[in-house]
Amino acid sequence: MTAVTPRDLGDADLYTNTDRYAMWADLVARDAVVWSEPGTSPGGFWSVFSHQDCRRVLAPTGPFTSEYGMMIGFDAEHPDRAGGQMIVVSDGDRHSVLRSLIGPFLSRANAASLEAFVAKETRELVGELRYDVECDVAADLAPALPAAVVCEILDVPESDRARLIELTSHAFGGADSAFGKMTPAEAHTEILFYFHELVSLRRRRPGDDLVSAMLAESGLSTQDAVMNCDNVLIGGNETTRHSIAGCFAALSTRPGLLDRLRDDPDGLPAAVEEVIRWTSPAMHVLRVATETVTIQDQVIESGAPVVAWLSAANRDARIFDAPGEFRPDRRPNRHLGFGYGPHVCLGAALARIELRSLLSVLAERCGAVRLPAPPVAMRSNLVQGYRHMYVDIDWR
Ligand code: HEM
Repeated sequence: MTAVTPRDLGDADLYTNTDRYAMWADLVARDAVVWSEPGTSPGGFWSVFSHQDCRRVLAPTGPFTSEYGMMIGFDAEHPDRAGGQMIVVSDGDRHSVLRSLIGPFLSRANAASLEAFVAKETRELVGELRYDVECDVAADLAPALPAAVVCEILDVPESDRARLIELTSHAFGGADSAFGKMTPAEAHTEILFYFHELVSLRRRRPGDDLVSAMLAESGLSTQDAVMNCDNVLIGGNETTRHSIAGCFAALSTRPGLLDRLRDDPDGLPAAVEEVIRWTSPAMHVLRVATETVTIQDQVIESGAPVVAWLSAANRDARIFDAPGEFRPDRRPNRHLGFGYGPHVCLGAALARIELRSLLSVLAERCGAVRLPAPPVAMRSNLVQGYRHMYVDIDWR
């Protein structure tokens, strides 16, 4: 029997428990193309779920644009004000220029040179866990590592790092409640102020960092540079931290995996890929159709917003055997966790290094990981992850 599809798939309450997996499996199996009524999105939106349909919407040849925004809530009538300025919501020449400027700072080569830095940070953070009575990896360890990496990429002065990492943890601690002393929105505003100062500083005293490159080569306004710093921070943090926390949940389903990875580190890259597929932190991306298009017999009018549910596609049973299982040696693993097409994640190499470093340090220091209580999910239609995840660790 076909399940009833909710009238608004943007409702964040649909994603706070594991029922979402059954809903996605049904929609994927039916190659469903579903209309959501206005609610979380002012004018409603279409959704696709299967691996094939998501790739079709995101492909370079697809008649779709990111310029109106890339998440539920934006559409042609209610566009993201950052459209055409911030890399992830730009297309065409502007997007190419921003990608060629930002890309090299996040590229594989640069990521490899960051390996030693990431390994040092990971060892320190995992070391702190040992003395952490509560051991909430979602709130403590997970946000700190990607934030430290982004500080390194932006060459944030040493004296400011602790503050920026703390603010980032607050800002992205979950949109549904106050976190620490300030609300997430207040922390995010502080971060934007901070980037404004950083951009002004680099204008006066350029270096060989990402901000200076953006200012020198593209003639970006201060506002545009601030926005793109924020894109790198959010892109790097709001996703990777959920794969980092989710990595502990994945390990808890595979006793003995850490021993195996310790004996055979060649297994790390496949395990990392599977962590990204299984955790799928970027739940959806949105595009707007630039011409009338037909997907699975459904006519989608030009100007309509279409959501590709990456987390559903990453559990498409036609592509992945036993998609609900975390299989650390899954090969091939053609997941869409980093998206697909012209906007495919620029920070993928960095994210992989962070996760490989985490798994490697855990394999060195821990024998097993258990979750003593069910983790507390984020309340979000955009980010799949946890606000709290308490862990018990058997230390070596
Ligand atoms: C783009 C996911 C880590 C920076 C994207 C997109 C996805 C994604 C799905 C495509 C968005 C779209 O099509 O509209 C992830 C996941 C990560 C991760 C799951 C970790 C597990 C990172 C890191 C950085 C980063 C570490 C940088 C420090 C970016 C940037 C873009 C992007 C700048 C925009 C690329 C463009 O528009 O051309 N990411 N990301 N991401 N990501 Fe990531």
